[in-house]
Amino acid sequence: MSEHSERVVVIGGTSGIGLATAELLLARGYQVVVAGRDPQRLESALKRLNEGAAEGAAEGAVSGLTLDAADEEQLAGFFAQVGPFDHLVITLTANGGVTALTELTAAELRRHSEGKLIPHLLTVKAALGTLRADGSVTLLGAVSSQLSAPGLVVLGSSNAAVETAARILAAELAPRRVNAVSPGIIDTPWWDWVPSEARAGALSSSTATTAIGRPGRPEEVAHAVAFLVENTFTTGVVLPVDGGARLGPIGG
Ligand SMILES: NC(=O)c1ccc[n+]([C@@H]2O[C@H](COP(=O)([O-])OP(=O)(O)OC[C@H]3O[C@@H](n4cnc5c(N)ncnc54)[C@H](OP(=O)(O)O)[C@@H]3O)[C@@H](O)[C@H]2O)c1
Repeated sequence: MSEHSERVVVIGGTSGIGLATAELLLARGYQVVVAGRDPQRLESALKRLNEGAAEGAAEGAVSGLTLDAADEEQLAGFFAQVGPFDHLVITLTANGGVTALTELTAAELRRHSEGKLIPHLLTVKAALGTLRADGSVTLLGAVSSQLSAPGLVVLGSSNAAVETAARILAAELAPRRVNAVSPGIIDTPWWDWVPSEARAGALSSSTATTAIGRPGRPEEVAHAVAFLVENTFTTGVVLPVDGGARLGPIGG
């Protein structure tokens, strides 16, 4: 049976880090609500979560709804349907976005803002009516916010914006806690924009010179998200989970 009665809403919980977070929190006895735009992705995530939850989870511990978190009307309807909850985790993002400034188009820049910063802030705002008064919000930035490699101007600046938002909102929304996790390269469906034959090589070559020397796994990031959800004295932090990528190349 569940040792918690706490409810966690994971926006982006139908894939990658969000799905791994939902699985971990479910295993720890939380009730989880996952959301994403694509109904098929939602259905397969719910199937996986329900199968994993068979042992020891509370009745009705898993649920999910489709949602486009860039749409304020949908957000209002979503949180009204979900009802009161304790913790909000946002793992949504647009994918791709590695481009030199000279190649950058206004459309790509807008796609990235609309795919990350805008839905993050709109989601937190929409959640405030039903999120527990001393509950938590956990956002996902990325190590690109700390790097200066050419091509990362869009990814780096949009993730830096989300990480900065976590610190500012920790002050603005107190006593609710607001934190962010800043992952390095993690092997998730986010990378599906890289052709499948090149993907494994691309992920391992981009991480070979980091301190840990390999891409991360979604469950390794989920572990950090769960820490921020559970640690009631931590707020306003950006927690790197990047295998040391922010330290720069090691050795050689
Ligand atoms: N993977 C990495 O290497 C990496 C590295 C650093 C940081 N991160 C960050 O970690 C977070 C999770 O990434 P991930 O790798 O787990 O990505 P992912 O596997 O692509 O999952 C993203 C999730 O967000 C949902 N989503 C996207 N836009 C949405 C929207 N407007 N409304 C609702 N749901 C939306 C997606 O479902 P639908 O498409 O069906 O909506 C999916 O469930 C992101 O913030 C990402 O920037 C990832």
